Amino acid sequence: MNDEKLYLVMMGLPARGKSTLAIRLQEALRKNRIPAKIFNNGNLRRTYLPLKETVSANFYHPDNTSALEMRKKFACINMKRAKAYLEGKGRVAILDAANISRARRKMIEENLDNHPILFIECINDDQEILHLSILEKTRLPEFSRLAHKTAQKEFLKRVDNYRLIYAPLKTERNYFRIDSLQNKIIEEKQSEPIPLYLLIKDILVTDVVKNLFLIRHTETKFNTIDRIGGDSTLTAKGIFQAKTLGIFFKEQQISYIFTSHKKRTIQTARSICAMQKNCKIIPITEFDEINGGICEGMTYKEIEKTVPEVYHARKADKYHYVYPQGESYETMKPRIEAGLKKAFFLNRHSDNIMIVGHQAVNRMILSHFLYRRDADVPYIYIPQDEFYHIVSMQDKKLFKLKPYV
Ligand code: F6P
Repeated sequence: MNDEKLYLVMMGLPARGKSTLAIRLQEALRKNRIPAKIFNNGNLRRTYLPLKETVSANFYHPDNTSALEMRKKFACINMKRAKAYLEGKGRVAILDAANISRARRKMIEENLDNHPILFIECINDDQEILHLSILEKTRLPEFSRLAHKTAQKEFLKRVDNYRLIYAPLKTERNYFRIDSLQNKIIEEKQSEPIPLYLLIKDILVTDVVKNLFLIRHTETKFNTIDRIGGDSTLTAKGIFQAKTLGIFFKEQQISYIFTSHKKRTIQTARSICAMQKNCKIIPITEFDEINGGICEGMTYKEIEKTVPEVYHARKADKYHYVYPQGESYETMKPRIEAGLKKAFFLNRHSDNIMIVGHQAVNRMILSHFLYRRDADVPYIYIPQDEFYHIVSMQDKKLFKLKPYV
C-alpha cells in the first residue's frame, strides 16, 4: 500500500504522557502544513457519561462488561470520525486512548483498514514522575468531587486495572515504543511504507521548549562573603530581588517553578509564586548546586590556603575536576539532564516553564541548549539580576539574557 494518509494510534497506561505527545504531534504536523487531528476517547467519555461513574476505578476493570461496552462504543465513534476525517482533507488522524489490550488494537486494525496504522506506545516507569503526574491528574475537574487522597487512590487503582490486560506492542505491523520521559525510541518496527515516517520520528525525539525562564536564585548571605555551597537564605537585597522577579513575571502564566532542594532557590521561587494565580513549586534534587565535597561552605580564598592542590587542580581543568567527596561539572551533567527531562514532562501542559537554579546548575542547563566547548561551560556568565529566556523548537531558537529590574 502506497499511501499519503495515516492513522497514528497512541497506546500506553494512564499518566504516561500519551495526550501530551498526541498534542505535540498534532502541533508539529500542522506547522509543517500537514492537516492532523486528535480523536480522544477520554474526552468523549467525559462529555457523554456522568463523571461520578467514570471517575471510579471500577469503570476500568476488565470484568466490568457494561463499562467495557461503553468504552468500546466511544472507541468506535472516534474510529468512524477519524475515518471520515481522512476521507476529507485530513492527512493524519491521531487516535488518543490507552488501547492497552491486543483485542482492542485488533479491533482498530480491522476497522481502520483503508490507510496504514502506526502505533505509538508511551512507556515511563519513573516512580517520582508518576507520583507527580498522578497528583497533577487528580487536580483535574474530573476528580473535583473526590477528596484528594481518594482521587489518587482511585486513579492508581484505575492504572492497576489497565495493567491487568496490558499487552505491549509486538505483533502490530508498524510501531514506535518510546520512553516518554526521555523522548527516546526504545524499539521501532516498520513493515510497510508509512507516510511521514521520518518527520514523525523526528517529532517524537525532539524536546520542545516554548518559553523557558532560567533564573538564578537571588543574593544569599554566602554570596556576599564568597562562600560556596551550603544552604543559606537570602539577604535583604536577595529578598528585594526575588520580589522584583515576582512583579516582573506577574503577567506571564507560570504553572510550575522547578527549584533545587536548597532554601535559596525555594525562597526565590516563593516570591514569584506569590504573584501568580495558580502556581506550584516543585523542588527537584537533580537541580541541587554542584557538590563541593570537602570544600562545601568554604570561601575560594580558604580553599586556596587550606587545600591548595584542590584549588590549583580545579583551576587547571574546571570542567573535569571532581571535588574530593563531591562533583565536577562533568559528573553533574547526567543528573542535570535527568532533572530537565522531569521538569519538561511535568510541565507538559503549559507553554511557560521556569527553573530557579544555581550558578553551576544553570551553566549546565544553558549548555544543554547552547553549544559550548566543555572547557567554557564553567565560565558561562550567570548573573543574579538578569535571567535567561530560552526558546527551542523545531522552527525557532531564541536565547536571550534579560534584566528584570
Ligand atoms: O558561589 C555560588 C555557587 O553557587 C557555589 O555554591 C558553587 O560551588 C559555585 O557557585 C559554582 O561556581 P564555580 O564552579 O564557578 O565555582
